[in-house]
Amino acid sequence: MSGKVSRADWIHFAPSLTPRSVDLLYADPPFNTGKAKSGTRGHTAKYHDSWPTTASYIAWLRERLVATLPALKPTASVLLHVDYRTSHHVRLLLDDLLGPDRFVNHLIWTYGLGGSSPRSFARKHDDILFYCLDPKKYYFKPPRVPATSRRMHGQTKKATDVIDIPSLNNMATERTGYPTQKPLALLELLIEACSPPGGAVLDPCCGSGTTLVAAAKLGRRPIGCDRSSAAVRTAKRRLASNQSWK
Ligand SMILES: C[S@@+](CC[C@H](N)C(=O)[O-])C[C@H]1O[C@@H](n2cnc3c(N)ncnc32)[C@H](O)[C@@H]1O
Repeated sequence: MSGKVSRADWIHFAPSLTPRSVDLLYADPPFNTGKAKSGTRGHTAKYHDSWPTTASYIAWLRERLVATLPALKPTASVLLHVDYRTSHHVRLLLDDLLGPDRFVNHLIWTYGLGGSSPRSFARKHDDILFYCLDPKKYYFKPPRVPATSRRMHGQTKKATDVIDIPSLNNMATERTGYPTQKPLALLELLIEACSPPGGAVLDPCCGSGTTLVAAAKLGRRPIGCDRSSAAVRTAKRRLASNQSWK
């Protein structure tokens, strides 16, 4: 499964998708942090992450989600990865586009690393909003994580809506240097839980290709686009580097 990765703006890519073909839409768009995001380790990638207002950011996202909905299967799910700046607005947007009864979970990805402030509790999580298209038909395989209690030592338990996976540190071998690269372990957990084996997984802001690599590893069909050529180069290289996933 080599996957399909295109250099395109999400808004132009969406209409090229086969109608009712995608099992899982995962998007990790810019968060509207107000700052451009630059790569590390000599990676030249840089992406724009600033909108004049929250309303213009939500309008940008709305337009792209509306363009993508026809590509989703009736059994599909949507995972939107955002943070405290916009998660409350994005939840209302998804309620509006899909219906509040399509809401499944507000997942918290708690990642540990990062700075702190003397004026607030340290911000150590992102928000992943999980919606389905049909509450009776969407795919879900409850993920299991290692149990932490002494009584269940060595066993697994059902994961909760708080996902504790460290963000990539500077020494992580999977680190590409692409800005805001997410850990493979996070995407593997989400994809395995929310898409059927062999299903199509779409990431329209694929960045370094973490979603696509995780999907390929798990036997799903990865489809991605990003408007940055550095992102697409990185994603294609990562997908190609492990022939055993194909
Ligand atoms: C948060 S990063 C994604 C990081 C990715 N999940 C990873 O693990 O590497 C957001 C990505 O959205 C891309 N992007 C921003 N606007 C876009 C647009 N209109 N269409 C497609 N991609 C876009 C940026 O180039 C950037 O790579």
